[in-house]
Amino acid sequence: MAALQGKTAVVTGASSGIGKATARLLADEGSHVFIAGRSIERLKEVARSIEDGGGRATVGAFDLHDYDALQTFVAEAAQQTGRLDIIVNAAGVHHPGTIADGKLADWRAMFETNVIAVLVGSQAAIRIMRETGGTGHVVTISSYAGQGEGHHVYGATKAAVNSICKVLRAELENEPIRAVTIMPGAVATNFGRHHSPEFVSGMLKSVGISTAFQAGDVLADDVLEELRARASAIFASPMDIARAVLYAVTQPHDVSVSEILVGPRKSFPTAA
Ligand SMILES: NC(=O)c1ccc[n+]([C@@H]2O[C@H](COP(=O)([O-])OP(=O)(O)OC[C@H]3O[C@@H](n4cnc5c(N)ncnc54)[C@H](OP(=O)(O)O)[C@@H]3O)[C@@H](O)[C@H]2O)c1
Repeated sequence: MAALQGKTAVVTGASSGIGKATARLLADEGSHVFIAGRSIERLKEVARSIEDGGGRATVGAFDLHDYDALQTFVAEAAQQTGRLDIIVNAAGVHHPGTIADGKLADWRAMFETNVIAVLVGSQAAIRIMRETGGTGHVVTISSYAGQGEGHHVYGATKAAVNSICKVLRAELENEPIRAVTIMPGAVATNFGRHHSPEFVSGMLKSVGISTAFQAGDVLADDVLEELRARASAIFASPMDIARAVLYAVTQPHDVSVSEILVGPRKSFPTAA
């Protein structure tokens, strides 16, 4: 039998990258996945591919800065299926740049998406897990950058996330709800969408891929797969991270998988 047969999972950031791969894997293992992101078209595509494979997926397109919408989406997952077993907080954003030259709107977007939405989504899920089966996994996708060495303002959001997950683990240690932090290294996704076109195009060109890119663009899956295939020493694949999530959520509730660092074998040359 599939490892997650009959379970319900909410995955944020499921329209792209790590969240998309995680949603697919959890659905392949039998979960009904409730997938959230902003792009309705890309979410529908993910849902279609899950359903074509015999899985179940329900789509919610909204901005995570609308915290009421996030709480409602988590509640609806439980209302529709009678349970909530897993939430994966995968949505995240990185605006590169120095503090001296950075923009308030970018800092706000990072803290609201990477930190506040994780708090709101996790709290909504925990309350429902307590009301229903009492068991569950709250998984948050953090980053190598959250380990405290400092990496733009983004690193500060992920350090905050690591601290929040640690506190949550302690809060929940007398309950069968586990809080898991997954810290990926560089992964071939659309995570670089706010980097400069020169940086992204240069990186693609360095491995022989020539694709037009403007800041904010989302690259097609086949381009990302080609990038990963040609530069696998410095890029993990989204599915590598999804497998770490699956490992964590299939352990018994008395076992705490607290933190997993998972990435490519070589470190990535960072952009300014
Ligand atoms: N890729 C890496 O190298 C890497 C390394 C370490 C950690 N991470 C972390 O991994 C997680 C997933 O990122 P990724 O690499 O998969 O990047 P990605 O391909 O850019 O995916 C990001 C996802 O987050 C969603 N999202 C962003 N802002 C949102 C908002 N305000 N409201 C709703 N959804 C929002 C996006 O939705 P739309 O596309 O629909 O807008 C998309 O589904 C993030 O937390 C990131 O910090 C990534």
